[in-house]
Amino acid sequence: MSARLSTNDLEAYWMPFTANRQYKKAPRLLVSAERTHYTSDDGRRILDGTSGLWCVDAGHCRPKIIEAIRAQVGELDFAGSFQIGHPKAFECASKLVNIAPPGFDHVFFTNSGSESVETALKMAIAYHRAKGNATKVRLIGRERGYHGVNFGGTSVGGIANNRKMFGPLLSGVDHIRHTHDLSRNAFSRGEPEHGAELADDLERLVALHDASTIAAVIVEPVACSTGVLIPPKGYLKRLAAICAKHDILLIFDEVITAFGRLGTPFGADYFGVFPDLITTAKGLTNGTVPMGAVLVKKEVHEAFMQGPEDVIDFFHGYTYSGHPVSCAAAIGTLETYKEEGLLTRAAELAPIGRKASTRSKGCPHILDIRNIGLIGAIELEPIPGEPSKRAYNAFVEASTEALLVRSTGDIIAMSPPLIIEKQEIDQLIDILSGVLKAAA
Ligand SMILES: Cc1ncc(COP(=O)(O)O)c(C=O)c1O
Repeated sequence: MSARLSTNDLEAYWMPFTANRQYKKAPRLLVSAERTHYTSDDGRRILDGTSGLWCVDAGHCRPKIIEAIRAQVGELDFAGSFQIGHPKAFECASKLVNIAPPGFDHVFFTNSGSESVETALKMAIAYHRAKGNATKVRLIGRERGYHGVNFGGTSVGGIANNRKMFGPLLSGVDHIRHTHDLSRNAFSRGEPEHGAELADDLERLVALHDASTIAAVIVEPVACSTGVLIPPKGYLKRLAAICAKHDILLIFDEVITAFGRLGTPFGADYFGVFPDLITTAKGLTNGTVPMGAVLVKKEVHEAFMQGPEDVIDFFHGYTYSGHPVSCAAAIGTLETYKEEGLLTRAAELAPIGRKASTRSKGCPHILDIRNIGLIGAIELEPIPGEPSKRAYNAFVEASTEALLVRSTGDIIAMSPPLIIEKQEIDQLIDILSGVLKAAA
């Protein structure tokens, strides 16, 4: 039977974050994958410039991970985690703690990035309550932030399109300013020079709301989904210092930056700035099965362990928290990262990626090229009156030319698997440059 689908077959599935009618008129379908490449339904090999959706960090269909999943589902398909357990969840948590930044010695399992964010936000509010500070309930996000799509994450998120359809969202939420500033920072190498002072915007919100009402600040160390906004030098350190001064928990949303994307195990390691909670998902299972995890600092965990021993310490969790198959996948993934040195490989590849990307500089309509670790972005000048179209067209054209990239607004984002080879990085940039030149 042909792997190709007819138009009618496409109708039932309401696809997420998709212009469904446009897509179904000209569908793009992927049917298999191996290492750095997908194969499309018409048999073309497509270089995966985005690690799936920022998640397949070790490359596709890796044997150790596949085998771990296969074996687990045949041995123990499901066991809950409420007042009962199974060994793989404990093993998986310990393995995560072993690679986590110092002091992060506990793990709470979820099934996605969105759920990790909800968990961390609730944990922050409950932490202050447990410490006797029950008025510290406000949550602060940042403009242009992306923290998934549940109500908490949408509320602290800062992308207008993701918020505007959903009413007033959570109360008691505010946002600090974003850090994007092309006038001062275009074509930076790594962290931009200008903008550390933007962290002081948190002081404005403290002055407005009072620290006694604020539970937590959540930011992505590198804001990826909005188009790869790299924090200015010193910004995160300054933000962490202001949080510490006011007893506000700092949450790093590392759903993308965890597991070696920047060349260190976590983004916190890269910047040398350590928050109180770290949210993860995606690369935790190399994208194979859904799973997320919140890494929790000792002091936060301890605050929950002060009540009577026979009372549940955190009234929160999911049926599939610590699912045996997800845990097996995560263990196989973490072992693959370790065996192949993938948690630090992006440090070697970053200069290669940066050098290669400068070759796009001569392409028309480019406002900025930026990179950090194995993440890159090209920001394009919008077509007058048609925002997002130029980058979307480049995404469609690139996929026809055998390259998968992401487009958000007029920004093209790249985040290839951490196993990518130098010549594949060159190939990625060559295809993209060709597409951008042809579109001019
Ligand atoms: C920083 C960040 N947080 C949360 C999420 C949401 O993750 P999920 O789509 O698994 O719910 C994402 C997804 O891209 C993300 O980049």
